[in-house]
This record gives sequence, C-alpha cells and structure tokens, in this order.
Amino acid sequence: MLTLSKEKIEKIESIFATVLKEVKPTPDELDIIARYSNELVSRLKKVVPNNIEILAVGSIAHGTQVKNSHDIDLFMLFPKNISRKELEEKGLEYAKKIVDAKKHESYIVKYAEHPYVKLILGDLGMTADIVPAYKIDNALERISAVDRTQLHNKFISENLTEGQKDDVRILKSFLKAHHIYGSDAQTEGFSGYLCEILIYTYGSLINLFKHFYNLELPIVIDPLNKIIYEEDSNEVKTLSKKFNSEFIVIDPVDQNRNVAAVVSKETLARFVLSVRFFIDKPLLTTFSGPKFSDIYSKNKVLKFSKALGLSIFVLHFKVPNIADDILWQQIRKLKGSLSDALKKNGFAPVLSLENVFLDNGILVFFINDIKIKYAVINGPEVYMKESIDTFLKSHKTSFGFIFESDKIQSIEKSKYSDAEEVIINSIKNMQLPSYLKKEELKIYKNNIPEEIAKLVYSAFVLKTSI
Ligand code: CTP
Ligand code: MG
Repeated sequence: MLTLSKEKIEKIESIFATVLKEVKPTPDELDIIARYSNELVSRLKKVVPNNIEILAVGSIAHGTQVKNSHDIDLFMLFPKNISRKELEEKGLEYAKKIVDAKKHESYIVKYAEHPYVKLILGDLGMTADIVPAYKIDNALERISAVDRTQLHNKFISENLTEGQKDDVRILKSFLKAHHIYGSDAQTEGFSGYLCEILIYTYGSLINLFKHFYNLELPIVIDPLNKIIYEEDSNEVKTLSKKFNSEFIVIDPVDQNRNVAAVVSKETLARFVLSVRFFIDKPLLTTFSGPKFSDIYSKNKVLKFSKALGLSIFVLHFKVPNIADDILWQQIRKLKGSLSDALKKNGFAPVLSLENVFLDNGILVFFINDIKIKYAVINGPEVYMKESIDTFLKSHKTSFGFIFESDKIQSIEKSKYSDAEEVIINSIKNMQLPSYLKKEELKIYKNNIPEEIAKLVYSAFVLKTSI
C-alpha cells in the first residue's frame, strides 16, 4: 500500500473537509427530507394491509446521501406467500394510491426487475421510489432481486460510523465528478451501497484511495470478514471464476453476490487513474469534474473531426420507456455490430459513442471517410487445405492474392465504396431491437442538428476526459 507524507495527508484531509461542507445536507435540509420520508411512510402504512411492512432504505435511511440528490427509497415488504404477480400488481396499486395531486405530486412507472412507482414531489424537487419486495431475514430466503436491500439497511446502520458516512458522501462526490457514480446500465459505475461497504472495509476514504492507487487485478474484497485478497492465490482464482470478474466485492449479507458486478472495466480503470491523479496532485477541482458548455456543440464536434480528417456519422432514434438494462444492452450491441461491419469493410471507426437523453438516443461513429474501390479479404492459413481450396475457389474473380505470412488474402472489388453505404446497408440487413423502427431511424453525416449535436458533444467530452 502507498505511504503518504504527513503534509500530503493534511492537504488531502483539508480538501475532503471542504468537499464535505459542500455536499453534506445541512441539518435543516436533513430535517425536511426526514419529515417528507416519514410522511410518505405513514401514508403508505394507511393504504397497505397489516401484513405489509413499510421500510425506508437507501442513502437517506443510512445517512449517506449527498446534497441535491434527494431520492427517497421506500420499500413495501410483502409476506413470502404472495405470488410474484400479486406483488407486482399490488405494489403499483398501493404506491399510486398515495400520490397527492393537491401537493403537486405526480408519478411515473419505472421498470427494473419488476415495475415500481417513482413519485415526483414537485414542490421539493425530490423523488421517492416506492418498491415492492418480499420480507426476508437472510439472503437465502430471497425471492426477488431487490429483497436484499432490507438486509443492506440493517448491515449499514449497524456498522458504519458517522465519520465513515461522511467519507461515503465525499467518495460519492468524487465518483460523480468523474461520471462513474451509479449502478445504472448507462454508467456501469459504483452504486451507493458499494461505496458504503468499501468505506466500511478500508475504514476511511484516504485508506481506500491508498489501496486503489496501486490496485492490481484480480482482487477480492470481503467486507464481512474484512479480508482483502490481493495476490493471485487459489482463492482469488476460484472466486474470479465463480463471479466471472476480476473485481469482486462480496456482499456482506450474501456471500453469493458480487456487489461490484455492474462496475465495468472502463469505470474501474477511470476510478484508479483518477485516484492516482488526485493523490499525486490533490486539488479541490478534481471534485468538480470536466467543465464544459454544450452551446455550439455542432461546431465543437466538427472542429475535432475536421482536425483529424474524419467524418461524423450519427444515428438518431426515439427511445421508449423500457427497462434501462435492456435498453443499454441493445444499444451497445447495435453499436458493436455496426462497428464490426464498418471494420470488416475497411472503415474502422476511430471513436464511437452512444448517448441517451430523455427519449432521444444516438450512436456516433467518427470515421476516416475515404472512398475505396478495393478491399482486402482475409483468408485462411495455407495448411488448412480444405478451407484454402474453398477460399481460392470462391474468390476466383479477385484482382489478385497476397501472402500475409502463412495466410492468403484476396484483393476484391469492395462491396461498399464508403462508410455511409456500409451503415445504411448494415441497418437494412440487420435485425434491430424491437423498439427501433427502421423507418424512424435517422442518419446524419457531419451536418447534425444542434439539439442532437449536444448529445454527441457531451458523450464525447465524457469519453475523452480522464
Ligand atoms: N441497491 C443494490 N444494488 C444496486 C442498487 C441499489 O443493492 N445496484 C440497493 C441498496 O441496498 C441501496 C438501495 O438499493 O441501499 C437503494 O439504492 P439507490 O437509491 O440506487 O442507492 P443509494 O444507496 O440510496 O444511493 P443514492 O444516494 O445515490 O440514492
Ligand atoms: Mg437512493
């Protein structure tokens, strides 16, 4: 682990103290949130039968929330003998009942593993997720994916000190500044609960940073037993295989769950590099993240692509209200398939991006937009006799053959002469996600409407900043 000088530690601690002052809600704010949360709890208690328990969970219940992200999390805990269908139906029904239009409240139904109600508290700029789950005493009894949440509540309230709760708030701000906070499908980052159990395991934020400065993979962190397996031991190998990951943080309430499962390789790498930069040069500005304005976005992205001699292709589509994980999985898959098609035809994208804002979604490719007449097609090794015979036969009309080491390549008249043709034809022949209608998909090349360019530019800044 990294050792730091006394001066360095003092500098870091003083930055942490300044950040905390900015992000910790004031006692008045905490009071308003608590009162609202309590009021919603009592309203819910009035509409549900006696055998359903109402529990406030998440960061507000834990005391780890940061300013201006006042999302109340309320759980309705159903007995285990209720069917999943009934839980979903009744869950929505009860939650909708407490929405009070007179208090300027409204709601939307959100879809996760099962649907839940997001109550929008107009006057206070707050929201409340009202989620049904089964009441359980330990993880083995779990029926739905969110049942563990009640156990997390107990673990955190019993184990985190006030100082550690503040460290969680500072850590969340650090991650937010780098756009890697949140376990949603777009961010693939650190969830609030992951922050909490990391601080619990390492004791403090500075200690966590000192360990992550030199992080090597694979690593297995076991908060319940406060053990960190860093060497490539048999234990680590077994667990890496079990969880199919190199970054494992075992849930203290469920030894079979990796709390860091959603953290992508890119997110973790971004975190480690940001920690290194911060420790090497502790600056308060690290907590404010990349600053950018999205006015004149079109000009800004064009400036970049022109400097590199690239063209920008933007696919724009309308996004329906479907579960985030399904949406993002399909957007990334589509991006991968188009990238592959472009690569295969000689137009490998230099940079590709995706973004969603409200109901607008985009895929973006920055491509070296040349016209080509011929393309090189890779063939098999000479030693694979049958394959070579087939290859030579099927490429008879080729302009010629080349030896590339012990493989044969053929020079063919290219199927597509530019990237745009590849994109258009790939989409024509591809099976798109069911919510995407081919006729509603718009393709822009360089000339992007400003509203869409804003989405391109913000995704661009986030992708290219450290
Ligand atoms: N939860 C979880 N895993 C996730 C997301 C949520 O286990 N990927 C559970 C946790 O028990 C968490 C609760 O759901 O405490 C509430 O989730 P969420 O509101 O996303 O996070 P918070 O911890 O409340 O953090 P924030 O301050 O961002 O709301
Ligand atoms: Mg929350």
